[in-house]
Amino acid sequence: MGDELPVPPVFAGGGDRVSRTAGPTRILLLRTFQEAAIRLHDSPRGDTRSAAEGHQAETVEAYSAYAEWYARKTKGFTPYSPLRTEIHEFCRASSGPLLDAGAGCRRDAVQMARAGRDVVAVDAVPALLEAEPPHTRVRPVVGDVRDLPVHDASVGAVWCSAVLLHMDPADFVAALREFLRVLAPGGFAQISLKEGDGHSAEPMADSTVHRRHFFFYPLDRLRDFSAAAGFRIEGTWTGEQADSSGTVQTWRKLLLRPLG
Ligand SMILES: C[S@@+](CC[C@H](N)C(=O)[O-])C[C@H]1O[C@@H](n2cnc3c(N)ncnc32)[C@H](O)[C@@H]1O
Repeated sequence: MGDELPVPPVFAGGGDRVSRTAGPTRILLLRTFQEAAIRLHDSPRGDTRSAAEGHQAETVEAYSAYAEWYARKTKGFTPYSPLRTEIHEFCRASSGPLLDAGAGCRRDAVQMARAGRDVVAVDAVPALLEAEPPHTRVRPVVGDVRDLPVHDASVGAVWCSAVLLHMDPADFVAALREFLRVLAPGGFAQISLKEGDGHSAEPMADSTVHRRHFFFYPLDRLRDFSAAAGFRIEGTWTGEQADSSGTVQTWRKLLLRPLG
């Protein structure tokens, strides 16, 4: 496995933005996020793009600071989680290499690999990608789902679980556009989000410093975002699932197909 995966050479071993390590391919993202966080403090009120970058930066910083804790919490499926069944169905319905966008500690990607699939697992936090033992069919790549280090039209399906809930509308649509770009003909994307409406900033675990930003969107807005990115919602359903804090949440799942 490996060389046939849809990761361009520039992201797999050289160039200005990457450095090769024994672990995942590294893209120098965190510096950018830190710079974005600094910009937030300097930015005038009402500068919503800078604020959004600051939210993303703060969220990714929180995952970085708590990577070991978060990986421990999420390395296994919670009891009664529908994820195993959904991943099984996702694999059955797709062909070719798969992309887990915002893979965290790669729990879902490894489940896909166990079903015989090659998976690119992209996440912004290297320590999360490195937290659990490697799997030969999962290639971890450090990257941003809004600017994926993946070739055009190269994956059969995109799995994006509990990631776009950290994105404001512009980032959400940017990520979906990237999913559309990397999907091969006939491909689809499956995403999951927490149900609700609005924005909240929540402490990471017991931290008094680090917090994550969550965005909640009603279905009609999700329909608008999907259309703006070039997708239609082919299917949607909700399910109960515990999150990393152990709180049972209602999750909305979306199956997206390219328009036209
Ligand atoms: C709630 S966790 C979900 C992780 C994994 N999908 C799962 O279900 O266990 C959100 C993940 O999104 C990642 N993330 C947040 N913003 C990102 C971005 N812009 N690009 C790539 N990953 C991002 C975080 O590092 C974290 O691993």
